[in-house]
Amino acid sequence: MYELRLDWIEVNIGHHLRSLIARMTAKTFMGNPTCRDPEWLKIAVDFSLNLASYNFTVKIFPNWMHGLVARFIPARHRMSRQYDIAERVVRELTHQHDLAKRARLKGEEVEEEDTLLNWMLDHGSQSEIEPFQMGVRQCALIFASIHTVAATMSNMLYDLCTNREWLEVLREEVEEISKELGPPIQNTNNNAHAWCTRLDKLDSFIVESQRHHPLSLLIPQRLAHQEIKFKDGMTIPAGSQLAFASYEYSMDPLVNGNPQEFDPMRSYRKRMAGLDQWDLHKASMAHPGNLAFGYGNQGCPGRRFAVSEMKIIMACLLYEFEFKFPEGRTRPKSHHLNQFCFTNQSVTLMMKKL
Ligand code: HEM
Repeated sequence: MYELRLDWIEVNIGHHLRSLIARMTAKTFMGNPTCRDPEWLKIAVDFSLNLASYNFTVKIFPNWMHGLVARFIPARHRMSRQYDIAERVVRELTHQHDLAKRARLKGEEVEEEDTLLNWMLDHGSQSEIEPFQMGVRQCALIFASIHTVAATMSNMLYDLCTNREWLEVLREEVEEISKELGPPIQNTNNNAHAWCTRLDKLDSFIVESQRHHPLSLLIPQRLAHQEIKFKDGMTIPAGSQLAFASYEYSMDPLVNGNPQEFDPMRSYRKRMAGLDQWDLHKASMAHPGNLAFGYGNQGCPGRRFAVSEMKIIMACLLYEFEFKFPEGRTRPKSHHLNQFCFTNQSVTLMMKKL
């Protein structure tokens, strides 16, 4: 029988966040029952690790050897098996979507979830919606959307446990909203959107946590497909990789006053400065002053989804739980490999039901 624990327990928060985010994302992308399918959820968590491991290994070798070396890298074989599973899952869901469309054409009423996959099937070209290709695309979306959100949320929880006074401020915001909207995200009152538009202090906290702990030090990055000539004569040769030193920029005192200080209400204050500033400094806005989600027409297309997902989970956690680091422990250090920053997600936090 399920036992409700009211005392402190030690949890591997990264593990729980990854599982939760994998399920939430699969519900939106693939729908039910795929979001409960253990095989799919395993791909959702493991695919990114395999892809990262493959990429880092293959890059040790010169370009001309990649094709040769690839077949000896175990992560490449694991990815191939995951593509096969993705193809099978997508084929079945495509079949069900076709049946629903045909029934609708006959004037029948059909209940069907509004999933990202169905949208992609309706808007993709013939080759894009072919089950293997679509399976590969779903894996690419997994890569973009699970560990990025889990790492950002782990950082937020570490920041909250380090700066505990903000736990109370954010919980107050959640409690205030709950007086009007009811408890966050109950199945009975589908109020996720209303909650997300109201959590302004949490929004600002996300921005500051990302500023201190970005997923990469160089955002955005681009490849020059052709030679670029500037007015002053500077030329960037075709094939060059370009990257913006976003972390250094965000830590420049001319860009953010007192940049080393963890000041979670920075963007809240900027938003409050005027009506025209209100939307500009939201966590989900790509803005020269906040490059966590990139910039321009290749800026992260999942940023609104990511911010909503993080707000929903954080609102629920703040409403129901207390957090702290285990006795004698502090924020774990992030690791760096090239420009990438890896949050240590294997540490434990103490949690208690409020
Ligand atoms: C906190 C979570 C996330 C962070 C920090 C993040 C960050 C980024 C960044 C920095 C880029 C490169 C943008 C650029 O070069 O200008 C990017 C691209 C991308 N992201 Fe996200 N992302 C997150 C979540 C998501 C989610 C949930 C999805 C899917 C729903 C997603 C889908 C994508 C895709 C498809 C691209 C490639 C866009 C392109 O090349 O045109 N991301 N993301």
